[in-house]
Amino acid sequence: MSHLLHLDSSARTDSVTRRLGAAFAGAWAAGGGEVTHRDLAADPVPPIREGWTTICDTLLREGITDIARYAEAVRTEREREAWAVVRPLLGELVAADAVLIGAPMYNFGVPAALKAWIDQVTFPRMVLAPRRFVVVAAHGGAYGPGTPREPYDHAGRYLSDFVRGHYAVEDTEVIAAELVNSLVDPALAGRTGLHRESLAEALRRAGEAGAELVGHRVRRGE
Ligand SMILES: Cc1cc2nc3c(=O)[nH]c(=O)nc-3n(C[C@H](O)[C@H](O)[C@H](O)COP(=O)(O)O)c2cc1C
Repeated sequence: MSHLLHLDSSARTDSVTRRLGAAFAGAWAAGGGEVTHRDLAADPVPPIREGWTTICDTLLREGITDIARYAEAVRTEREREAWAVVRPLLGELVAADAVLIGAPMYNFGVPAALKAWIDQVTFPRMVLAPRRFVVVAAHGGAYGPGTPREPYDHAGRYLSDFVRGHYAVEDTEVIAAELVNSLVDPALAGRTGLHRESLAEALRRAGEAGAELVGHRVRRGE
């Protein structure tokens, strides 16, 4: 059975990225896939501390790149404390055939809760391909191709650059709903129709992508 790791990171419970993620994960489950859901806003992971950094330095110094051997770099009490946080998070990530990231845009970037997870689970030369990544994003404004704000999208673009650069995963899809703030900001009130169109298309695509990807399996060495 194919396995999806589904991350949410919106501080809101009634949230666009949660709706998009639910559309993808619902289609995945309907196709017979298994889903592990982690809510990084409700159940935050802590920022990395010094024990994490010394584990990482040892991995680099000793050339350990096999994830199954990372525990060999855990040697001190502080490193054991750090590893107790990392181990279950990394286990979920490695067990996944696909990773779905709910990423609301916060201050042109990703929420600190999501960044804290990324910092905890990411070690040097950690190739995760052929796992697939899908990002479901929501923006208060408009950041699509050709918009004046396009260069300021350091959320979806950061995540696809990150998984390419760190995990060697090339084919990340970003599905975004635009202009969410038109529902609350009088200055954007005239753009509510555009938001509704964008949200409907993102929901449609999220469901479709979940149904398409559920057949994806990472061939493991078992
Ligand atoms: C802390 C915070 C910072 C935000 N910063 C931005 C921003 O820089 N650009 C933007 O377009 N929208 C911004 N927004 C609006 C959110 O992107 C928008 O509300 C989106 O719907 C959030 O996703 P969610 O509905 O899943 O929570 C911000 C919202 C919050 C709460």
